Amino acid sequence: MKLSFKDNTYRECISIAKKNKKMFSEIKTIDLLDRVELQTCGNNKNFDNFQIFTPKFIVDGMIKAIGEGYVSDFNHTILEPTSGDGAFTCNIFELRLKNNISDDTKDIFTTLLRCLATIYSIEMDKDLIIKQKNNIYTIAKKFLSNKNILLNQDEDDFLKILISLNFIWGETNIKTEIKPLLCEVAYKMPNKGKNADISIDFPVWNFDNGKVSLHFEEPEIGC
Ligand SMILES: C[S@@+](CC[C@H](N)C(=O)[O-])C[C@H]1O[C@@H](n2cnc3c(N)ncnc32)[C@H](O)[C@@H]1O
Repeated sequence: MKLSFKDNTYRECISIAKKNKKMFSEIKTIDLLDRVELQTCGNNKNFDNFQIFTPKFIVDGMIKAIGEGYVSDFNHTILEPTSGDGAFTCNIFELRLKNNISDDTKDIFTTLLRCLATIYSIEMDKDLIIKQKNNIYTIAKKFLSNKNILLNQDEDDFLKILISLNFIWGETNIKTEIKPLLCEVAYKMPNKGKNADISIDFPVWNFDNGKVSLHFEEPEIGC
């Protein structure tokens, strides 16, 4: 499904987003009191189907190696092609919130949306992508609640629609040689079973002077 928010005011976009409730009905707050629980390698006792979910200290170390300032800059685009429940996406989102928003920030909610709008995520396990969307939503709600900001229904729905579009249940094609991961060959999962792979177009958000525009683009090759 494609939404068209071209040159609408932020409020008009929210009303378009609200018409697409089906897309975000599965997103909910997990627990506002604690940090979201991410899986780690220690959680999976089945060593035949063993998967490693990256622990926080390794994620932190990798972000430091790339540069915290670079990763925190929401003008830079992040794509996690095999994202699990969000070890990287959740940590990067939290870091961006910490480094871009202070109590003096004018429009905290819009800045939060900007921090999130350039994080993209693909995961083929449906349960994990749902968990990840809930983790991201919970981080956002907890951050806002710590700043005594309560979203109205429209704003809350808009946050959910952004998460629904950027965090994709899909498959990244990594069967061939991994040079960089070629993200243009990624497919939305619901079409996969029908032998009709559809290349993913990513939503590109633009927040400018109270206006939001959204268009969809094929990702560029070579990250
Ligand atoms: C080892 S886990 C790592 C998850 C996360 N990146 C982390 O570091 O915690 C790998 C994840 O990639 C997913 N996955 C594997 N191949 C994939 C593909 N081709 N496209 C999308 N997801 C994939 C699996 O379902 C699994 O959740």
